[in-house]
Amino acid sequence: MKSPNTIQHPATVSRTHRELQNGHKAVILWFTGLSGAGKSTLAQAVDERLNMMGYHSFVLDGDNVRHGLCGNLGFSDEDRKENIRRIGEVAKLFLDAGIITLTAFISPFIEDRNKVRALVPGGDFIEIYCDASLEVCESRDVKGLYKKARRGEIKDFTGISSPYEPPQNPELVIETGHQPIHQCCDEVIHYLQKNAILPLSRKRAI
Ligand code: ADX
Repeated sequence: MKSPNTIQHPATVSRTHRELQNGHKAVILWFTGLSGAGKSTLAQAVDERLNMMGYHSFVLDGDNVRHGLCGNLGFSDEDRKENIRRIGEVAKLFLDAGIITLTAFISPFIEDRNKVRALVPGGDFIEIYCDASLEVCESRDVKGLYKKARRGEIKDFTGISSPYEPPQNPELVIETGHQPIHQCCDEVIHYLQKNAILPLSRKRAI
């Protein structure tokens, strides 16, 4: 419930000013896909590459955020919806801070992802589908969760007992099921350069 007694203050230091200072645009890179598809690995790799290039970036990761901000949420449809709503709001704040914000959440529902897209100015939400099949993710089973889900020890598990709705029109599809991580990372960086989110020359402001 929104309090009727709060008033929004405009920021004294604008997002545009921060972007000019940083030398690049701020965007949300929203990685979505099944558990084990490689969202976190790819987001971390892109973050590391951006950091080495001197850009300002940060990763919000499902497993980490669920230890704090979203620690009271489970995996029912309603809780996942609330999880994504909170992350969307946090990502929006990071955007205003001039940061390239990478999020790594299953975010299984189209409607919830589209709500985050609608929350920020057009073009600032870049949906990246980490396309790895259930077979590949299950064969990796890095955390042993698929085995538990198949045995019925975890309920509402995405891909097994809870749905995943792939993006219908994502900005980027990365074949994280088959390609080596450095190639996936190259594709994301190339997209950012091609779309003038990153300047081609480090010194050139946006
Ligand atoms: S989301 O659906 O709300 O976007 P989120 O990305 O935060 O999910 O968390 C997913 C991570 O939680 C998975 O990578 C996995 O490690 C863990 N997890 C635990 N239980 C489940 C479950 N029932 N379904 C999916 N992931 C689960």
